[in-house]
Amino acid sequence: MTEILLSLHVLAAIVAVGPVTVAASMFPPAARRAAGGGSDAGAVGTVRLLHRICRVYAGVGVAVPVLGLATGSVMGVLGSGWLVTSIALTAAAAGVLAAFVLPRQEELVEQLADRGSVEHGSTVRLALFTGLFNLLWATVTVLMIVRPGSTTGA
Ligand code: HEM
Repeated sequence: MTEILLSLHVLAAIVAVGPVTVAASMFPPAARRAAGGGSDAGAVGTVRLLHRICRVYAGVGVAVPVLGLATGSVMGVLGSGWLVTSIALTAAAAGVLAAFVLPRQEELVEQLADRGSVEHGSTVRLALFTGLFNLLWATVTVLMIVRPGSTTGA
């Protein structure tokens, strides 16, 4: 049972968080390029698609903490420090994505569609929040593998 849950948890992390990382990182430069090219419909379409990938896979990504909590409870490790820290960091990453990254992407997509331009500063701020999101979940991945303080640690 533990093996199945853990496999699904890791699979969900790869399948869901991977695409969000790539698409979210590509979004700010793609938005700047689309703005530079006037109202190039293809470039705006790319930006819209990147946002859609982020939104859809963020939804799929909810499975990661759900399966993680199930794995942790079956293993009886939910109280361990490394896991409590991981849960807090996962919540912080989800918060940054839901409160800053996705809404700002949406604003930029609308601006591009409406007036074919974006404010340079807003793409820079978005890139900052995207970097923070990536840093948070990458830290969680390291914690998941190293499990500091755990006797089953790597
Ligand atoms: C609420 C959040 C989460 C919980 C409760 C959770 C829980 C767990 C548990 C209990 C394990 C098994 C550790 C062991 O074998 O002793 C695990 C492994 C793992 N988790 Fe998570 N997890 C969470 C979020 C994440 C996130 C956000 C990622 C990456 C995006 C992630 C990636 C991994 C990976 C790669 C492993 C395999 C580590 C290994 O076996 O070497 N987890 N997780």
